[in-house]
Formats: sequence, structure tokens, C-alpha cells
Amino acid sequence: MVIAGAFWGDEGKGKIISYLALKDKLDVCVRTGSVNAAHTVWFEGKRYALHMVPAAFVYEKCRLLIGAGSNVHVAQFLKEVEETNVKNRIGVDAQASIIEEKHSMQDKTSAHLKGIGTTGWGVGPAIEERVRRTAKLARDIPELKPYLTDVAEETNNAIDADKKVLLEGTQGLMLSLFHGTYPYVTGRDTSAAAICSEVGVGPTRVDEVLIVFKSFMTRVGAGPLPGELTKEEATKRGWFETAAGTGRDRRSAPFNFEIAKKAVKINGATQAALTKLDSVYPQCKGARSFDELPSDAKEFVWEIERQVGIPVVLIGTGPEALDIIDRRK
Ligand code: IMP
Ligand code: MG
Repeated sequence: MVIAGAFWGDEGKGKIISYLALKDKLDVCVRTGSVNAAHTVWFEGKRYALHMVPAAFVYEKCRLLIGAGSNVHVAQFLKEVEETNVKNRIGVDAQASIIEEKHSMQDKTSAHLKGIGTTGWGVGPAIEERVRRTAKLARDIPELKPYLTDVAEETNNAIDADKKVLLEGTQGLMLSLFHGTYPYVTGRDTSAAAICSEVGVGPTRVDEVLIVFKSFMTRVGAGPLPGELTKEEATKRGWFETAAGTGRDRRSAPFNFEIAKKAVKINGATQAALTKLDSVYPQCKGARSFDELPSDAKEFVWEIERQVGIPVVLIGTGPEALDIIDRRK
């Protein structure tokens, strides 16, 4: 299964992945992308904002991997490995590239990139360096030696053995370098096909693409956001958020069906998750079955299914990994 975001990231992919890890007992979870994305996981009362470690770490038998197309921030990786206690079950592809302090400096000092409102981690400049073919790779870094593996090989072998494998995308379609709101995008394609490519899994090997929608949209950094609310209005509705990674204000807007449809199409999504339904319909908080939802919330879910043409199988009703309505058979 591939997990991809529909909007501008921060849809709640971390929460959905942590739920699936525990519920479906995932065997393998591969993270893509880089350190610019923070996946929030609440587990046993503790909050994690993961920039490197896959969100499936909550299931202690899951093998955790970082794909060849990723950019690894060595210090952040080591810090999170410690924090999540996953040293003995995490691997990094030997060909993943390395993001360094100089990339962050380039990100922060470029007037152009400041205008885009990047996260400042240096992911764009690190990718530039990789394209120039002067980047360091994971295999060049002594501290990463104990973690090195061939992620494509491990992942394809796990698929061959009928294991449960999840590929963890980052950000959302509207931040895709190819399909998003260019130039206000991140430095890579964020679609399901690109997620597979970063890991080294062919498109014929994917069973499900699960697209994650949030019940309203948010965006950090510059660029268009259709239907954008003022901060005051967002606060009034309970939709005002700050970024898990950078602490910046998130801009917000109501759910947009046209963007949702585009995200389903380009990702080839077969099923959807809808997070934070309790932020739009407070009575939903903590609900664990669809029947418990008030009728306007149910109508909203049905309207999404009608318009985008795929089932909404998971519905988030609170921050903890298990605060979810699971409508799968
Ligand atoms: P960069 O990816 O740091 O170059 O930033 C480019 C744009 O993508 C900026 O608008 C960032 O705010 C946005 N962005 C990058 N990663 C994330 C994320 O994980 N969540 C939300 N926005 C992100
Ligand atoms: Mg995030």
C-alpha cells in the first residue's frame, strides 16, 4: 500500500500510518522524502514529530526503512532513532543522499527560496546537489554504516513473501514539483508513482493507494490556497494550527472537492482516509464507529465519496493513533 497526501501536507498521514501499523501489524514501512516533512504521531500519551523515522515505529515488530530516493539528515536521523528506540530494526538505503548544514544555509539565505517560504532544512539545495551528482550518499557516512541496506531489495522481497508493506509518502499532491502549485512547491514529486520510484518498487506491485484528506485544508509557506480564511476565522472554527516541524502558522481553508478529485486521479487512489473530522464536527470527537457520527458529519463523508468516487475507509476523530473509525471489512 502506498500512502500519499492530497493537499499541502499535514493531512495527518503520520496518524493514519501509525494506526495501520498497529491494527494491520505491518511488516515493513518505508519512508520517502526528507527532513522538511514532520509526521506527527501520538502514541501512549506522547507526541512525536518525525522527520526521518517511519511513522510505523509504534508497532515494535515492523521493519523500518528509508528509501534510496530520500535525503537523510544524519543528526536528525540519529536523534530520532534514539528517541523511538528503533536502532535494531531500522535501515537506510546505501544510495540515499545526504542533506548537510550547507544546504540549510543555502535554503535560508536565498531570497528566491525565502519567497517560496521553504522549511529552511535545505531539501531543495540538497536535491540540486544530487542532480549535479556531487552529493554524498549514505554509504559515505561512517555513522550510518550499521544501518545500511538495499531498501529496494528488502522491500521487493517482502512483497514477494506476501508481507504487509507500506510506502510512506510525505507532503501532498499540491506541493508536488510536477503537479502542484509551482513555483510554490517542494523540490520533488510527491505523488504515489514518485513514492514507489523513491523506494524502488514498480507500479504493478501496488495493491492499494490510500490518499489522506484532512477535513479542512492547510498550507504553510507561500502560494495559493483556494478559499483561504483569515486567521481570526480559522481560530473561531477551531482550524488554526501551527506547523509540527517549523512552528509556523498554518493557513487554512475549507475542504475543496476539485483538489480532492485531482489528488485521487493523479495518485490513482483506491481508497481514502479523512482526518480531523472532529475539528469540523466537534461531536465526532473520540467516535470509534460510523453510526455514532451526527448526520451532518455522515453527509460530509458521503459527499466526498460521491464526488471523488472512492470509499473513505478511515476517519480520524482524535489525535491518538487509535482514535479512528475503521470502515474496512
Ligand atoms: P521545502 O520543501 O522546505 O523546500 O519548502 C517548499 C514548500 O513546501 C514550502 O511552502 C513549505 O512550507 C512546504 N513544505 C515542505 N514540507 C512540508 C511539510 O511536510 N508539510 C507542509 N508543508 C511543507
Ligand atoms: Mg507535517
